Order: sequence, then structure tokens, then C-alpha cells
Amino acid sequence: MPELARLWTIAWASGAIFADMDHCNDADDDIWKSDEGISQWISTADERERTRVGHRRLMADLLPFGYEDQFTFLDLGAGTGAAARAVLDRYPKAQAILSDYSLQMISEAHRELSDYKDRYTYVELDLASGNWRSEIPFDLGAVISSLCVHHLPHERKGLLFREIFAHLEPGGWYLNYDPVIAQDPEVQAAWLRAMDRRDPAAAEKRANRSPEEQRRYESHIRHMMPLAPQIELLGAAGFEAIDVFLKELDHVIYGGRRPMVGGPAV
Ligand SMILES: C[S@@+](CC[C@H](N)C(=O)[O-])C[C@H]1O[C@@H](n2cnc3c(N)ncnc32)[C@H](O)[C@@H]1O
Repeated sequence: MPELARLWTIAWASGAIFADMDHCNDADDDIWKSDEGISQWISTADERERTRVGHRRLMADLLPFGYEDQFTFLDLGAGTGAAARAVLDRYPKAQAILSDYSLQMISEAHRELSDYKDRYTYVELDLASGNWRSEIPFDLGAVISSLCVHHLPHERKGLLFREIFAHLEPGGWYLNYDPVIAQDPEVQAAWLRAMDRRDPAAAEKRANRSPEEQRRYESHIRHMMPLAPQIELLGAAGFEAIDVFLKELDHVIYGGRRPMVGGPAV
């Protein structure tokens, strides 16, 4: 069994993977492409976002721009635009291109982005496909993604990082905010312990999933990877100045910069 698959199996068998269902799920189009799935997700969004405000702001602050700079950035799997809004708020002259594969999400996003009307466009893009739309230029100042890339298979993540690299201007940054799994089951168990103390209802919920919740959960986590191989993929795609800028239990912000000279890695 390949090493990663073995680690996932250990983590799964130990019951130690605890990501909530609020992350994106590339297999479960029935969640992201259904009215019911989207309205359920939207109805719980405020509560989740309260715990993420600091992470969203940090992502915006990491970008290499002054407050008055004009630049265009792309938000992949943008949903209703929580990550993009943090960047737009921080940089009043920035322009956003948001992308997502769910028409329901896109429609909901237009409602939530009504205050940003002249500052964004939204394009349909399936990250699993690699068919980037021609509206997305090759000189982006930055690309961000949040709570989405973790559901792409390992090989697709690597290809996506190369596609992002190719769409950045020299010196442009990519940042990804995402959950990861631990490589060591003991570490995974420690994360779980801490999470359960923060949210005592979580253990109870985990132990009492309905068959449907269990099915969604298994689908949700199946491509989740440890951090180290993702950092390797970034390096292989050609990024430099790579760092894990934030790590809090299973949540990370990592990223890097397209070098000032040199083309995409082949
Ligand atoms: C948990 S939401 C995160 C939304 C937003 N980035 C945020 O941080 O709030 C995941 C988003 O990824 C989108 N998504 C899932 N799989 C996708 C794919 N293959 N291509 C593009 N978008 C995808 C979903 O439609 C959803 O909007």
C-alpha cells in the first residue's frame, strides 16, 4: 500500500480524522450543486466564520501589497466569497476574480457580494478539470484558495499548483487555507483531544453519525493529505519562498511566490 494511503488508513481506523462537513466536497456534487446542500451550508456559515475571522485577515495581510495598491487576484473554489472579501476589505483598490463549479454557490455569492459590485467578476471553473477559463488572465497578482483544495486527489493538487503558477505574474503569490491530516496517529489523536475540549459536543456528534452523515464524511475526507507532501508539490510546481504561515491543529495557511524570473516548472 502506498505510504500516504497507509497513513490515511491508520488515521481513519483510529477514528482520528475530525474535519467537519463544512469543507468542500468534490465528490459530493449533491452538496455543492443542490439547493438543499447550499442552503444548509449557508445557514451555518455565520457561526463557522466567527472562528475564522483571524485566519481570513492573516491571509490578506500575507499578500505583498500596500493598502493602496491596485492588483487583481483570483479566489479558487470561492463559494460565497468569504476569503475574497477579506482581501477586498484590506486592499480597497484590488479587483477579485472568484471561481467555483457550483452555480448555486455563484448565485448566492452575488447576493453576499452586493457591496462589492464593481470590484469582482465570478467565473465557473471546475478545479478537477484543469480547463481554466479564458477570462482568467496570466498575470494575476495573487491566487488564494480556502477550504477547498483538500478534496482534490494528490495528482490533481500537483497539477493545480502548476496551473496557478502559470497564471501568476512574476513575483505573484499563492496562498491556500485548508485542513490537513497528521502523519502520526498520536498527533492526530492529540488534535482530536484538543478539538473535543473546545467543542465537547463534537465527540458526541462523531459517535452518533447517521449512515448518510457517515457516507458524506467518508467522501469528505478521502483525499485529505498531510501537510509535508503538499509543500513538496508547491516546490515541484516552481514556487519559492514557501512557508507554512499558520498552523492551528488541522488548519494551515501555506503558500509561496512565483520567482521574479523563470517560467513554469516542467
Ligand atoms: C467549504 S466551501 C469554501 C468556500 C470558500 N472558499 C470559503 O472559504 O468559504 C467549498 C467550495 O468549493 C467548491 N468546490 C468544491 N469542489 C469544487 C471543484 N471541483 N471545482 C470548483 N469548486 C469546487 C464548492 O462549490 C464550495 O463553494
